[in-house]
Amino acid sequence: MKTNINLRSYNSFGFDAVAKEFVEINDANELQTLIRRGQLKGKEVLVLSGGNNILFTKEVFDGIVLYMNNKGIKRIADEDDHAILRVQAGEDWPEFVKQMVAKELHGVENLANIPGKVGAAPVQNIGAYGMELKDSFVQCEAIHLETGKKRTFVNKECLFGYRSSIFKGMLRGQYVITSVDLLLKKDAPLNMEYGNIKAYLEQNGIDNPTLQQLHDAICAIRYAKLPDVKQIGSAGSFFKNPVIERAQFEALQKDYSTMPHYDEPNDKVKVPAGWLIEQAGWKGWRNEHVGVYDKQALVLVHFGGGKGEDIVYLAKRIQDSVEEKFGIRISPEVNFV
Ligand code: EPU
Repeated sequence: MKTNINLRSYNSFGFDAVAKEFVEINDANELQTLIRRGQLKGKEVLVLSGGNNILFTKEVFDGIVLYMNNKGIKRIADEDDHAILRVQAGEDWPEFVKQMVAKELHGVENLANIPGKVGAAPVQNIGAYGMELKDSFVQCEAIHLETGKKRTFVNKECLFGYRSSIFKGMLRGQYVITSVDLLLKKDAPLNMEYGNIKAYLEQNGIDNPTLQQLHDAICAIRYAKLPDVKQIGSAGSFFKNPVIERAQFEALQKDYSTMPHYDEPNDKVKVPAGWLIEQAGWKGWRNEHVGVYDKQALVLVHFGGGKGEDIVYLAKRIQDSVEEKFGIRISPEVNFV
C-alpha cells in the first residue's frame, strides 16, 4: 500500500488529486485478502480502472484507491462458430480489441480505440458506432467490497442500458469487477450502418471491407473527432445523449428542422447532445485551462493547469444554456469523485 499518491497520471482529464491510500491489485485474490483482513473497513473506497470516465473535483481523495491492474486473456470455449474469452479487468480495452480483430473474432470491432480497461467496460456498457458491450457480454466476475465474496453476474443481471448498468445504478460502489467473459463470433456480418462509416470506406476506395479494415476505419473516424487523451485531457463524451418525448421533439423540429435524431422505443427520441451544445454556441469555446473540443462539442477538455472544479463549472453553464434554448436538461455520463 502506498500513501499520498498524486492521481494525475491515473485520470485522462489529467487533474491533480492526491489519494490518501493507493493499492495496485494484480490478482483478484489480493483484493479478497485485503477485504478479509479488514483493510478497507471504515474507509471510502474508489475503484480505479483506466480513469477515462472520471472527474476529480477535490484536491484530496480522503480514502483508499484500488487500482485494478490484473492481466490475462484466455479462450475458455472454442466452438465451431464462436469463442468465449475470459479477460481480466486490468487489460487495456483497445489492445484487447486489436488482438481479437487480428484473430478474426467478431463482436468488438466497432468498439475500437475506446480508451480504458476491460473491467470498466460493463460499468457503463461502453458503446460506439452501433455496437455496445452488452451485445457480446456473457458474464463477469465481481468481488463484494464488504464481504470479499465472489459473484458471477450474467448478462441479464447486469441490467444494461444506454451507458448504464447495475454497477452504475443499484449496486454502485458495492462490487469490483475482476474479469469479463465475452462471446465473439468466428464469422458475422460487419456493422457499418452508423453515421459516416460507409462514406469513409467509400472515400478510401474500400468496397467490401475486411474485419481489420473496418476496425482501422473506426480508429481513423474516432481519431478525426475525438482528442487523444495523451495530448489533451478529456473523458470522451462528457454528457449522455438525452432521450425526450416524441411530442417535445416534434415541437422542437418546427424551429430546428435539421436536428439529428434517432427513434427510441415507447415514443421517445434520442437527440445528440453534441449538436445541442454546438447550436447553443459552445463548440470550440475555451479559456486558459478548459474548454469544449472544437471537433466534437460533446467532449469537454482540459488544456492543463486547471482544476476539476473548472470542468464542473463549465458543464453547469453548458447544461443551463442548452436547457434555456431547447428545454432539455442534459446530464453527465462521467463520474464525479
Ligand atoms: N454533432 C454536432 N456537433 C458536434 C457533435 C456532434 O452537430 O459537435 C452531431 C453530428 O453531426 C451527428 C450527431 O451529432 O449528426 C452524432 O454525433 P457523433 O456521431 O459524433 O456521435 P455522438 O452521439 O456525439 C456518441 C457516443 C460516443 C461514440 C459516438 C459514435 C454518447 C454519449 N457518445 O457520440 O461515445 O463514440 O456516438 O458512436 O453516446 C463516449 O462515450 O465517450 C464516446 C465518445
